[in-house]
Amino acid sequence: MQNKGFSAEWLNELKRKNDLVSIASNYLRLEQKGNRFWACCPFHSEKTPSFSINNDEGFYHCFGCKESGDVIKFLQKMENIDFMDAVQILADRVGMEVPELQDKEKFDQAKKKKARLLSALDYAYKHYMENLYGKDAKQAQDYIKTRHFTRHELEDFKIGYSKDWTEIVDYLKGKGFSEEELLEAGIANKKDGRLFDMIGGRLVFPIFNSFGECIGFSARALEKTDFAKYKNTAETPVFQKGRVVFGINLLKAQKQQQLLDKIILVEGQMDVIAMHKGGFKQTVACMGTALTKDHVQELKRYNENIVLCFDNDGAGEKATVRAINMFRNENVNLKVVRLSGGKDPDEVLNNLGKDKLKEMIDNALPYMEWLIEYHKKKYNLSDPEEKGKFVKDVLAEISKLDSPSLYEPYLEIVRDLTKIPIDILRRDILRVGKTEAKMPENLPKIQEKVEKSDEKAAKFILASLLHKKKYVDEKIDYRKLLEGFESYLDIIDENLPLSAIFDNEGASEDQLLMEILNFNFSEFGDDAQVYFRNCVWKLAEQKLKKEQEELNTKYKNSEDLFERGEFAKKLGQIALQLKNKSLEEFNVRNNRTTSQN
Ligand code: UTP
Ligand code: MN
Repeated sequence: MQNKGFSAEWLNELKRKNDLVSIASNYLRLEQKGNRFWACCPFHSEKTPSFSINNDEGFYHCFGCKESGDVIKFLQKMENIDFMDAVQILADRVGMEVPELQDKEKFDQAKKKKARLLSALDYAYKHYMENLYGKDAKQAQDYIKTRHFTRHELEDFKIGYSKDWTEIVDYLKGKGFSEEELLEAGIANKKDGRLFDMIGGRLVFPIFNSFGECIGFSARALEKTDFAKYKNTAETPVFQKGRVVFGINLLKAQKQQQLLDKIILVEGQMDVIAMHKGGFKQTVACMGTALTKDHVQELKRYNENIVLCFDNDGAGEKATVRAINMFRNENVNLKVVRLSGGKDPDEVLNNLGKDKLKEMIDNALPYMEWLIEYHKKKYNLSDPEEKGKFVKDVLAEISKLDSPSLYEPYLEIVRDLTKIPIDILRRDILRVGKTEAKMPENLPKIQEKVEKSDEKAAKFILASLLHKKKYVDEKIDYRKLLEGFESYLDIIDENLPLSAIFDNEGASEDQLLMEILNFNFSEFGDDAQVYFRNCVWKLAEQKLKKEQEELNTKYKNSEDLFERGEFAKKLGQIALQLKNKSLEEFNVRNNRTTSQN
């Protein structure tokens, strides 16, 4: 991670003088409980407060949507401004002078460049719009009629037309944009030394970010073609497909007018537009890419009720399963619509009308029920063997729920479908959990990735180190124990106030870092100390076993008697350490690397 260009000391002073509570109270009604302040979260919708401020340490965390940050990030998000602007406002507020940035020049340049790209894109979409109503647009106009757009959709979505392969290039050059800028904005491509518009001849759908800035284009062919039906402009510094949500600007407007009760997620932009026309203005799409965690985080901020409404074909089903896996255990209320009467929402609306579609949306299934149906379709339940497979599949799904207390209603559904007594299902589902948890231990090969339970142990140790818990054992060399987590230990070693964590570039996207920062120790109570020791031993044991395995291989492969003797001796030592649960391998000798106070 990279620091944001100011010294840690200066940023700390800025944050100390602008304490989070005094800034946040301009926006939120805060209530103090103990040493924390609480409010309803401004970053997702909720009725009971789960947004909490730790004012001593200068950071906030929402236990609902998991958003965390310091006072700078809070101001950025509330005012939709960038880091530098937030720093400037806070510095002005307390009469501090903003020091010259070390890489200020680079920073300014990047900012200027981004502004130029956005300006070119802004000119471009407005020009495409004009094209649609100008001359030579008959084919596009005819096409629009076949899609039943009204003036509202055309205006709301700023739909346009790219007349040919070069016209936009000449237009923007005339506005003073360089060839390089057009390439970088993704508006033009270069071939044989000449720039051309890769979406020439197509209906153009500008893509806007949540601020209403045009960041790229998707464009549809006007007739059947051997080329792609839709072409999207290339990834650019402002257009990252894994993050783009088509319709996010309109979703935001809905939220601002407090009209948002849920988010409907569809597959394509045509569906978004049709849905808006049908009155479902809370609809967005992911632009032909698979749903990513970035999409999930973005959408969650707007509303926790998510309704999936993908195409009713094999691809749509697959996308639904994938989306479920992205959203499950993300603290959202996830449902799935079963479409009928058309292959996608656009067709259903055209064929059956909006009332019928509304009925389908109102009857959307909780995702787990949809999954049970999905698996049921794959099997013939009157065949005993297939029934067994079905049970295995659905129990695996159900066991992924956060807590066994949630299993019961779904087990009842499975019982009704299979006539298997519920006690047996209850027993079986516990086995599903166990065999999965056990698996890694049966495969003690050298791990590329830290196993899940080890990650849990590492997390607890890191959180304890960060929060300077009294039970931390200072004799241990944590760098040796926690290989692979060096960057976290670096941050812990800096020994700064916790809010300084957010000075690191990308800190709030680092899930592990946020988890250790907001770690909830209360559930461990008096056992924390014992648990800590167990975690340390767990990691130590794993390392010792790995060493043991490596030595065993070396021992077997060695033909040198002396060498074999050495290996054997070492193996004996390790066996003894494992038996006695000895941590001597991990004790700090003379080289203390992790400081604690
Ligand atoms: P669909 O093929 O389902 O399109 O692709 P659609 O929404 O029904 O479009 P119409 O009704 O035929 O106009 C869904 C999404 O996948 C992406 C687009 O974002 C589209 O909206 N896609 C599809 C592409 O990027 N390229 C393609 O060639 C096709
Ligand atoms: Mn369609």
